[in-house]
Amino acid sequence: MSRRFRPAGQGPRVLVLHGPNLGALGRRDPAHYGGEDLDGIMARLEKLAGALGVTVEGLQSDHEGELVAELLAARGRGVAAAVLNPGALAHTSYALRDAVEAAGVPVVEVHLSNVHARERWRHRLAVAPAAAGVVAGFGPASYELGLRAAAALIRSSGGATSAPPDPPGGLGPGTRQ
Ligand code: DQA
Repeated sequence: MSRRFRPAGQGPRVLVLHGPNLGALGRRDPAHYGGEDLDGIMARLEKLAGALGVTVEGLQSDHEGELVAELLAARGRGVAAAVLNPGALAHTSYALRDAVEAAGVPVVEVHLSNVHARERWRHRLAVAPAAAGVVAGFGPASYELGLRAAAALIRSSGGATSAPPDPPGGLGPGTRQ
C-alpha cells in the first residue's frame, strides 16, 4: 500500500516519508505509537509548515523500493529537504541508507517511539548514519521537531540544498547540464 499527501504551504519543499506499517497509525500498538493517525500528523505538519515558511508534501509506503525511488527523485523535483520515518526499515535497510546518502538533500530521521528504550534489535539504526540527524521518542512531536530541523538546515544552506526542478518531461535526450 502507498498513499500520497499533496503539497501544502509556501516556500522550499520538504518531503515527509513514512515507511512500512505507518499507514496503520491510530490503531497500531497505541502504547508505543499513540492514538493519532497519519492524517493527524500531516495536519500538524501542514500547520507548522505555514509558520516555518516551507511547503510539506508526503508519501506513506509499505514498499522499500518506492521509498528509495522517492528519495532519489526528490532533488530533481525541487525538494529541499526530507523528514523520514523509515519504520522497521530503519533497523535493516542498507538500500534506504544508500538512498538517503545519494538523495543530495538533507534527510532528518524521525521515530515516534524511543527506539533505544525498546527491544535490542531496535537499537541498531542502519539508515541513521546517512541522515542529518535523528529525533526519537516524542510521539507526533518527533515529526514536528524533524520538520523544524529540516527548515533550519534549508535556511542555514541559504536554500542551496534546493535544486531547481527538472523541466517537465525531464531533461530530454541529448540535453547536458
Ligand atoms: C518506528 C519505530 C520502529 O522500530 C518501528 O518498526 C516502526 C515505528 C517509530 O516511529 O517509533 O514501525 O519507526
